Amino acid sequence: MVEEVISPLDTPYSSLDLPFEKSSPQTLNEIELGPEERLLTTIGEFDRVLGGGIVPGSVILIGGDPGIGKSTLLLQALNKLSANEKKVLYVSGEESIRQTKMRAERLGVSSLNLFVHAENSLETIIKGIMDVKPRAVVIDSIQTIFMTDLQSAPGTVSQVRESSGRLIFLAKKTGIPIFLVGHVTKEGAIAGPRVLEHMVDTVLYFEGDRGHPYRILRSVKNRFGSTNEIGVFEMRDSGLEEILNPSEFFLAERPLNVSGSVVIACIEGSRPLLIELQALVSYTNFGVPRRTSLGVDYNRVSLLVAVLEKKADLSFLNQDIFVNVAGGIRVDEPAVDLGIIMALASSFRNRPLDPRMVVFGEVGLTGEVRAISQAERRVKEASKMGFSRCLLPKNNVTQLSSDSNLECIGVDSIEKALGFL
Ligand code: TYD
Ligand code: MG
Repeated sequence: MVEEVISPLDTPYSSLDLPFEKSSPQTLNEIELGPEERLLTTIGEFDRVLGGGIVPGSVILIGGDPGIGKSTLLLQALNKLSANEKKVLYVSGEESIRQTKMRAERLGVSSLNLFVHAENSLETIIKGIMDVKPRAVVIDSIQTIFMTDLQSAPGTVSQVRESSGRLIFLAKKTGIPIFLVGHVTKEGAIAGPRVLEHMVDTVLYFEGDRGHPYRILRSVKNRFGSTNEIGVFEMRDSGLEEILNPSEFFLAERPLNVSGSVVIACIEGSRPLLIELQALVSYTNFGVPRRTSLGVDYNRVSLLVAVLEKKADLSFLNQDIFVNVAGGIRVDEPAVDLGIIMALASSFRNRPLDPRMVVFGEVGLTGEVRAISQAERRVKEASKMGFSRCLLPKNNVTQLSSDSNLECIGVDSIEKALGFL
C-alpha cells in the first residue's frame, strides 16, 4: 500500500500551449479521411507489428523487462524516421545525454535530425516537443516522468496516469506520434495503472530470453492493426537486426530423428510460422509427477494428456511431463494440439517422428482431430521451408489447392495420427 496525497491540479489540459480548434458532432459522411498516411520506420518487422507503420497522432506503449532492448529498438527506429531531414525527438528520463550519445555511437546512429532531451519534468518535455515539432517522439520511460503539480513521486499511479493523459492529449491534438516506454512488474505486466493500457492506442511487448540473442516484439492491443502480430529481432553488437525468415531461425537448431521433437505450423498474427515443439516424458522418481509447460498453455497440456490416457491407452500416471516450445516463443492457438499430442507420444514411446513432417490440428476431448483455420497458408510455409509431409485434420485436406508438392495426410482421430510414430 502506498499513500498518495491527492491535491487538486491547477493546470487543466487546455493550459497545454496547443492550437485549439472547437469541435462539434459531425455525421460520418461529413468526416473527410484523405489518403491514410502512415510513417514507415523501414524496419519491416517493426512496421508490421504496428499494423503497417505508425499512425499519426497515435500513442504506442512498449513494455518489456529491463535490458531487453527497448531503448535500443526505439533509438534505431527514430534514426530511420529521421531520414529525409525529418526531425525526431528522444526524451530520456533514465540516461544522461552522454549515455544516449554513447549508445547511439555503438548503434551507428548519427542522424543530424535526432534530438535528445534528458529530462523528467513533463512541463519541460512538452515545451521541448512544441519547440522541436518532431515527426515522432520517444519517452523513455513513462515511469520516470513527473508533473511538478502533483505531490507524489515519479512512477506512482497518479503521476503515470496524469503525465500519460497529457501526452496522449498532445499527440491527438498535434498529430505527433508518441512512443512511451513502460517498465514491467515482476509478474510481467506493465507497471503502473492498468488504465494506461486502455488509454493508449497500441500496446507492444518486447520479450525474449536474456540467454538468447533473439527478441520478439508482440502487439497485444492495436487500434490500427491486428493483434498477436509478432516481429522477430536479433540482438547483435551493433544493435537489433530484424530476422526476415523466422521459421528458418526457429528451426535452426532442431535435432533430427530424436523422439519428443515435432515441428508445428502456427499462425502468428498475419504470418505463418514453423516452430519446434519438444516434449519430455520420463519416469517420476519422487511421489507426485511433475507437469511443466513453457510456451504453451498448461491447462491445454493437462487436457491433452488426459485425452491421450483415455483414447490412446498411454499411462502417464507415474511420468513427469515437460513441454517446451524451442526458441522461447509462446503459441496460443488450438492448432498446436496435435503437435503436443505427437510430441508427448513420441517421447513416451521413444519413437521419433519423420523429421520432414509438419503437424497441426485441433484435438477435441473425444480424441477427434478438428479442422483449423488457414490450413493452406501453413502448408505453403511448410513446403517453402523444405518439408515434404504434413499431418493435418482430415477436413482441412479437402480445402487445400492441389498444387502443393507436399504430401498432405489428413487424419480425423488421434489414433490415426499416432500411427505415424
Ligand atoms: P537496452 O536497450 O538498454 O534495454 P532496455 O531499454 O529495454 O532496458 O538494451 C540493453 C541491452 O542490450 C544490454 O544488455 C546490452 C545489449 N546491447 C547489445 O547487445 N548491443 C547493442 O548494440 C546495444 C546498444 C545493447
Ligand atoms: Mg532503457
